[in-house]
Formats: sequence, structure tokens, C-alpha cells
Amino acid sequence: MRYDKPISMTPLDARRIVAQPVDRVDGPAKLSGAATYSYEYHEEVPGAAYGMIVPAAIAKGRIVAIDSAAAEAAEGVLMVMTHRNAPRQGSGGDAAPQLVGSEIAHHGQAVALVVAETFEQARHAAGLVRVDYEREPGRFDLAEAERQARPPRGGEHRMGDFEAAFAASPFAVDVSYTTPDQAHAMMEPHASIARWDGDRLTLWSAQQLPDWSVGDIAATLAMPSEHIRIISRFIGGGFGGKISVYADAILSALAARALGRPVKLALTRQQIFNGTSHRPATIQRLRLGCDAEGRLLAIGHDSVSGNLPGRSFEEGAASQTRLLYAAPNRLIRNRKAVLDLAPAASMRAPGEAAGLLALECALDELAEKAGIDPVEMRVINDTPHDPERGPARPFSSRKLVEALREGQRRFGWERRDPVPCRVRDGRWLVGMGVASAIRENYVVEAKARVRLDGQGRLTVETSMTDIGTGSYTILAQVAAEAMGLPLDAVTVRLGDTRLPRGPGSGGSWGANSAGTAVYDACMALRDMLAQKAGLNSTDARFEGGMMHGGGRSLALAELAGEGVSAEGEMLPGGLTQSYAQASFGAHFAEVGVAIDSGEVRLRRMLGVFAAGRLLNPKTARSQAIGGMVFGVGAALMEANVVDRRHGLFINHDLAEYHVPAHADLPDIDAIFLDEEDDKSTPLKTKGVGELGICGAGAAIANAIHNACGVRVRDYPVTLDKLL
Ligand code: MOS
Repeated sequence: MRYDKPISMTPLDARRIVAQPVDRVDGPAKLSGAATYSYEYHEEVPGAAYGMIVPAAIAKGRIVAIDSAAAEAAEGVLMVMTHRNAPRQGSGGDAAPQLVGSEIAHHGQAVALVVAETFEQARHAAGLVRVDYEREPGRFDLAEAERQARPPRGGEHRMGDFEAAFAASPFAVDVSYTTPDQAHAMMEPHASIARWDGDRLTLWSAQQLPDWSVGDIAATLAMPSEHIRIISRFIGGGFGGKISVYADAILSALAARALGRPVKLALTRQQIFNGTSHRPATIQRLRLGCDAEGRLLAIGHDSVSGNLPGRSFEEGAASQTRLLYAAPNRLIRNRKAVLDLAPAASMRAPGEAAGLLALECALDELAEKAGIDPVEMRVINDTPHDPERGPARPFSSRKLVEALREGQRRFGWERRDPVPCRVRDGRWLVGMGVASAIRENYVVEAKARVRLDGQGRLTVETSMTDIGTGSYTILAQVAAEAMGLPLDAVTVRLGDTRLPRGPGSGGSWGANSAGTAVYDACMALRDMLAQKAGLNSTDARFEGGMMHGGGRSLALAELAGEGVSAEGEMLPGGLTQSYAQASFGAHFAEVGVAIDSGEVRLRRMLGVFAAGRLLNPKTARSQAIGGMVFGVGAALMEANVVDRRHGLFINHDLAEYHVPAHADLPDIDAIFLDEEDDKSTPLKTKGVGELGICGAGAAIANAIHNACGVRVRDYPVTLDKLL
């Protein structure tokens, strides 16, 4: 259905199963190892050969010679593919051709593929391929590239007279923040198994958006999309890193076709860092001006990020600033510069994650100048509607102020001393910080099918994926509640492009979009079952595996007979235009800064969020905490370190790319406020997955300043920058 009007009562409003903190339905399979990830289909795809890529050792230039004789002669080797013998491939759009020429566009790009009988043989032989290059100078420095950055795509967003209002503001800050390149650092590497049956290709491949990937692979291999099937039943994390198609999918497919045998190919951790995607670094200039009461008069947010030539993605780090705070004079723009580093792409909360690291600290700086409490500063500048469009476009729901107030109370904000360096605990200077969270709410098209069998079991099918977020669980909850069935009567099948086209996992749109398609299918199934009994579905009540109505009670199992199935779809409607839609929250952090070493330790952290109805408070909380952990990493440790001479990220494994470990996270909690958004979808929910990271790092950086009085504007805030 297309949704254009606020949603009235639905069968989910009873919240017997939906909105309950049920355990993950796929938990036992994951814990016991029965959940199969893309590289692990040993029985389903017997006899697969093993691939290993050889990554480019330069960032820019060309291959002048390749000697693969030693690799070809090595034990077990079946083939070596290079640009000299790789098949022609399509280009354009998001096609991901591999080994198409001698040109090197970025470090880590595949320059050869070795296929052998075993993984060890392939890896050994890959090391025997000799490649000679001719280097060219590349562009690896964002600050330098910024000068040639393009004007903003889609223009700049202006309102009022920003320059005049900023110049006339009684209190103002004009500060630049930089955020580094970051790695998705998901557990499961990119991995694919390819098998051809005639001209049909099946790929067991970790893809967050498998239907999009089918289109890109079809364009690359110049074949019809209908001949490609992607199976992606379990995905060991993605965070955006598995949105696009990379060498594992394309090269396993090409090699399998050439060999007439299935080929499996996983990227090594080192290959992932430079060969796939990352969150690009940003340089952000914030110009904020306010009056003596703290009311913002002018908001200016300029961001620049880089990407390879020809890549459309840019980090929209200034974008959320269009919606977060009121101010009559505004200037907001994102620009893109050309860099010859690995491809930049979406990483968890693209835009907000980097943007709020800057905006929320700059606002803290302004609050301090104006002598306003940082929580009050945010409350004062709340807005009930889209600041650019005015009252004509209200928020569908917005509990930013409630989140700030609730967090302030629970966290003990009144104990914060506004003057840095005055709170001591042994060798630690202690401080508290706050930051707002916002993440835009997206819904996208989705389809689903439900089938009720004669045993009263319901099967839900959509090509939606579960990247560890809980899709299997929440879709089972939606279907069970909609049909009045117990949760264990529902089986959910996901991650197969033969199933009705799901929305995939990305942008925090998955639960809402896929869930609404499942809901819509269940509503259609209810109609069919009611009709079978000669009833109008509005007169029928579905509960306890029965349909009650017209003075009768009938078991769904009997009504189903040989089985009944129905399809449903989610079609985004006018609601997303007439209402600004976003999830909100507030982060509170307390840190200690060691007085002798500058070492920073997180002591406590609390996130308070509002994201509409939670389909499952347990999986939602896990998402929120996971996001906050990402924020801790962004504030304190995560950075791809760019070698500006050779054009690569030099820390390219999890020993050198630091993410927070348990010892870094002593006391971290997330709570959600009650909220139901009837202008979102019939589920009345909003996006949850990426909300937790939005603003989390800024709260920590603000706490560091409150502890020790040092304002670091270059992330991550490591101890060398504090001394
Ligand atoms: Mo997300 S960065 O859309 O997985």
C-alpha cells in the first residue's frame, strides 16, 4: 500500500508480540554454528575451488608487466586471471568491473586472481605473481584537494542573510573540525561463492542490498538480471561496507564461468581496508552565532569530503544541520573533492555520524562562550518543524527535548561543573558532555509474501537481509501479531533474490520498510481467510490461531486448507513529503582524563532515544548500544591513517585499526522513550539502527573538554593532542 495519510488503529496496536523484547529467533542457529554465512556453503556447493586476489601495490599509475608463470606452475593452481585474459565487462552506473585494464585507480584494487584447489595453495600462489608498475602522482590529501572541490551537488541551502546575521551575532564561533577516514570493520569479510548452471549464475554472497547488487552484477557481466540469484541468508555485519559490489562477487563469477566449476573467494582483512570502501574524511567549518539567551541567529555548516573520480557518493556531513535546530539565517553545503584513495561510500549513518561530531561540539563551544548550559542551549533551539520549510512541514514526531531532559535527570547532569579542571578523582580530571542525536527516517519500496499452511504455520518471504540487526525476529513478530498466531508458528525466509523484492539493509530503513510489506501481506491474507468464511475482514478478529467473527470461531489451520498465500508491498507515499521525519535522542558521557598522560577513559555513558514504536525493545537497545560503541571509537581511537606519499591506509587490520573493546566500555546504557509515529507507516516506527552513533562521539569530546579544558577539533581525540 501507499501511505499518504496518518495511520489509524492497526492490529499491531495490541502489542502482544510486536513491541515485546523477545529473543532473537535466529539466536540458537547462530550460537550453534548452524547459521550459514556466505563462505560456508560446503555441502550445498561441493567441489568449489578457492580464489585469492592480488591487490595493487601502488595507488595511481599502470601495470607495465605481470609475470604469473611461477603462480601458474605452483601446486594446485587452476588459473591466474589478469587484465590480459579477463573477459570484457560492462561499465556505467554502479557496475564493478574487475581486471579490465592496466590502469590503477587506487591502492588495493585487484590486479590478479589466482584460483587453486585449496585456500592455502591459492594464497601461496597469489604471493608468486610479480607485477611491475609505473607510478603516477596521486591526490591523497583532502586539505589540498579541497581547493578544487566542486560546488555542492543540488546547490547550497540558504535562508535569510547568513553572512550579515553571523557578523552581527553577540556570540559567535567560527571553527573547523576534521574527521578521519574510517573503516567499517565488520566481523565477516567480503565473501562470495559463485556457481553457474548454464547461463544462470548463483552467488552466495554477503550483500546488504542483494537486489541492488543483482542489478550491478548484471550490468558488469552484461547479462540479464533474471539470470542472477544472490543468496545472503546471514551476514556477519556490514555497516554499509557490503552495500556495493566488490571484487569477491565479480571475480568469483568470472572464474567460475571460465573453469566450469564453483569458485569461492573471500577478501582478507588487509585487502578489505584498501580494496573496498570506507567512510571518507571530512573537513567541516562551523559558523554559529547566537544572542545572549542562546537563541541561534545564524547557522553555517560547510563540509567537504573526497572520493575517486567518477564516484557519486559524497559524505553529506552538513545535511542533518538543515533539520536539527531553528535559526532564521542559514547556509549549509556539502562539497566533494577528488582523491585517489580507495572508494568512499556509506558507513553507518553516513552524513550524521561525521557531521554531528563537528556540529555538536561547535554548539558546545558557542554555549560556553554565551555562558549557557549545553543542555539548555539545545532545548532553546529546538524546532517543531523543518526550519527551512516552516510550519508547513512539521515533524511527524520529535522528542529531542524530552530525550535531553530525561537524560539530564538520569545522568545526574546537575553534578556537572561548567568550569573545566575543577573535578578531580585521583589522577583523573573528570568531565561530562552532552550531544543531540538525529537520524533521518527513510522508507523505501518493499515486497513480501506470506503463506499459511494446513498446520496453521505461517511462512514469511522477502529478500530482505539480516545483517545482525534482528530482521528475522522483528518480521516474525509483525507477522505473528498481524495474524494472531504465536511467534513460534511463524518461519521467516530472507536473503534470497528469488523471494519478493525486499528493501535490503541500509540507511535504517529495513525494519520499517520490510515490516510494512509483511504487514500489508498479512492484511491481504486476513481478507482472503475472512472471505473464505463468508465474512468481511473488518468483522473478523484474529487471535490465538483462530479467526473469530459472525458468532463463530474457526481455526486458521482449517481455514487455510491446502494453503493460502498473499502478497504485500510498501510504497512510500506523501507522508515523507508533508512531514519531516527523523529519529532523535540525546547522549550523555562522563570521562576521565589522566592528569599526567592525557589518557582518556570513558567512565559512564547514557543514550536516551525516541524512534517511534520499537518493534522489539531488546534488539533496538542492542542496536543503540552498538551505535554508541561506534561513537566511542570515533571519538577516541578510530582512524584510517593515510600515507600521503604512497596513497594507502597504512593501518589495515584490527590490530592497528582500533575499535573499542569491552575494557573501553565500563558502563554504557541506552533507553528509549515511549513514542508511536502514526505518520511513518502502519508499524508506527522509525529508523533505529544508525541512531545510536549519531552524536555519540561528540558527547565524549565535549566531556573531554569539560574535564580538562582542551578542545580538540581533529578526531580522534588521542592523548598526544591533549598534552
Ligand atoms: Mo548503512 S551505512 O546504510 O549500512
